[in-house]
Amino acid sequence: MLKAFSTVAVLLAVTLVASAQSAQASFDAATKVFRLDGGRVSYVFGVNEKGELQQLYWGGRLGATDSFPQAQTIPEWASFDSSNTTTPQEYAGWGAGLFVEPALKVSFADGNRDLVLHYESHTVMPHGFDVVLKDIQRGIYVTLHYEMDPESGILARSATIENREAQPLTVEQAAAAAWALPAGAYTLNYLTGRWAGEWNLTQEEVHPGAKVIESRRGSTGHQANPWFALQAGKTDEDHGEVWFGALGWSGSWRITVEKDQLNAVRVTGGYNPFDFGYVLHPGERLETPIFYGGYSSNGLGGASRLLHRYELKRILPRTAATAGQALPKVRPVMYNSWGVTNFNVSEAGQIALAEKAAALGVDRFIVDDGWFGQRKNDHAGLGDWYVNKEKFPHGLKPLIDKVHSLGMDFGLWVEPEMVNPDSDLYRQHPDWVLNFPGRPRSEQRNQLVLNLARPDVRDFVRSFLDKLLTENDINYIKIDYNRNWSEPGWDQLPAAEQKRVYIDFVQNMYAILAELRKKHPNLEIETCSGGGGRVDLGILRYVDEAAISDDDDPFDAQALQDGFSYAYTPQIMTAWEGDSPDGMNVNRTTSMTYRMLTAMQGSLGIGANITKWNDEQTALAKRLIAVYHQLQPTIVEGDLYRLISPRNGSEFSANERVSEDKSQAVVFAFIHSTQNGWGFPLLKLKGLDPAAEYALSSIEGKAREGTPSVASGAWWMNHGLEMDENFRGDFQAAAFRLDKK
Ligand code: GLA
Repeated sequence: MLKAFSTVAVLLAVTLVASAQSAQASFDAATKVFRLDGGRVSYVFGVNEKGELQQLYWGGRLGATDSFPQAQTIPEWASFDSSNTTTPQEYAGWGAGLFVEPALKVSFADGNRDLVLHYESHTVMPHGFDVVLKDIQRGIYVTLHYEMDPESGILARSATIENREAQPLTVEQAAAAAWALPAGAYTLNYLTGRWAGEWNLTQEEVHPGAKVIESRRGSTGHQANPWFALQAGKTDEDHGEVWFGALGWSGSWRITVEKDQLNAVRVTGGYNPFDFGYVLHPGERLETPIFYGGYSSNGLGGASRLLHRYELKRILPRTAATAGQALPKVRPVMYNSWGVTNFNVSEAGQIALAEKAAALGVDRFIVDDGWFGQRKNDHAGLGDWYVNKEKFPHGLKPLIDKVHSLGMDFGLWVEPEMVNPDSDLYRQHPDWVLNFPGRPRSEQRNQLVLNLARPDVRDFVRSFLDKLLTENDINYIKIDYNRNWSEPGWDQLPAAEQKRVYIDFVQNMYAILAELRKKHPNLEIETCSGGGGRVDLGILRYVDEAAISDDDDPFDAQALQDGFSYAYTPQIMTAWEGDSPDGMNVNRTTSMTYRMLTAMQGSLGIGANITKWNDEQTALAKRLIAVYHQLQPTIVEGDLYRLISPRNGSEFSANERVSEDKSQAVVFAFIHSTQNGWGFPLLKLKGLDPAAEYALSSIEGKAREGTPSVASGAWWMNHGLEMDENFRGDFQAAAFRLDKK
């Protein structure tokens, strides 16, 4: 029997059309069908004859008058596979014989673990819905939140779970959302890696069974990133259907891609259920993270361009200077002294670097690790956030004043969630770290993790950061996080409740970042975790950019950047010009042109020992920084087209950025090693206005002789851009710009 609908929700079919923007949310009371349209995407679900919320359609945008009949469960296949398990539910409780991944699994105080969620009521919003589900008997309510982005068609989904029973219950597994795809053959794309080797695009066929991508580490992790893309059939970079998603959570997470016994494919993601247990007392709620999902019919390239624009317009925070603006500010060109001075920072040494950096056209000078406590190396000092008097006898002020007088702003490194046992903080508060009392405390990089879930630790971290920012004129902090969790105990809580550390820790971090930004509205933040270990759409709501790797070797950077670009916009992708050979001991020597053009593909930073550069090097860097400043909006906020992939031992790589209004494009081309005399492949450009005329000019390198200086977009896209005959060799780089006439 279908449950009675609440009168408020469904007296009439409600259709709210957002003015000016092409998105709508509508509910058809006759068929109980919910429909969301945004960009080129439609997403449809409905209440089936049993009262379950069932997914009906996700894909290319449907006609405005197209309609769906009421959802019908998939008939039972056999007594072994009831319709309960084969029907794609929007948010299935574990109960009534569900064998696929549940969205929600709970344990009630009386031992009952059966949960069957049926539709209860809903609210229609301009771009989405709140749909309330309830267990068929018990007072557990789940509100599903849907918000469709009018421009990209990316749908943000999450859930709020509420206990209205008289007894506590334990949530053992809670997803943000489950996504169902049309039956078919798919290739799964996801990002894997390790420290100094992140962002490998891993591609594999989806087979029957479940594929789990996850972090059990307490934070996002280098090893896998919470992003996926499923390509149908013969999809490639530019063609075919792609369904993609990214989870906004910086703690332990899990995404399960499942092909069931009827070949249906589902993706379920949210809190990692491993070692999970969240007690909800009567009246309490649990919010899940947001799982963002999108669809493109233009291949993986189309999918990442949608995601990039969504991140720029909807996820990344604004500062006081950019409040209300469509896009965040492009990132200042940075200098970071870590690669040069390491822990040996001093006022004089940093001033010498700052003077040279300013002369190059750098906008922001950053002092990394080593400025605080007794931090001579990585064995001591974390937790003692006072300025080291031996290194900076007069505090940071003289250095900051100098940096300002040179026309730059100032940034500083912190690692707030960590402590070295050799620190005053740990000596005073040994109970503040994650630990199980009486058990060993495993150190990594000689440090332990502070239990940020504890209110006293949260207050300490918030107030030391606030004090640092109040007492010093700091525009930017790089927040580092250099290990994963071990012994995740929180012994102030009853044993049954200690696992909420996985959620409270991360929520407290988000809250601290939000408060700091509110109190210091010009503050900008970089997320770093030994490079790219904490990048996800959760933390990106509070930070302006991200470290992608501790490996700054420019050849390695080609693949790191390429992998990163599947999920994240180049705007947040810090990219470094470092010394050659670089500090990672890759032992590869490269030219400054190669290094600079590599770093210019993201948010440019200089990390080399610039005091050792000769006049020629200085002049080259200065010129390229000036060019970068000019072209930066197109490079980091334009549409990215990956023309030749650097992956899988490729000899070459190339990509193109096109400004949103198609008035400008920038092309980067790199040679790994020319083999057997083959020249650089013809570059057929993409995304230009075919009818417009574009003037080609070189940033570095030459086009083949006879290349027109002005030609139509159609010419550059169909005929293509040919490189000079002599563009050959090892680790060569070229870049061009095209400006609409
Ligand atoms: C991490 C970061 C580096 C640097 C060091 C400092 O490894 O990724 O960029 O800040 O910490 O200790």
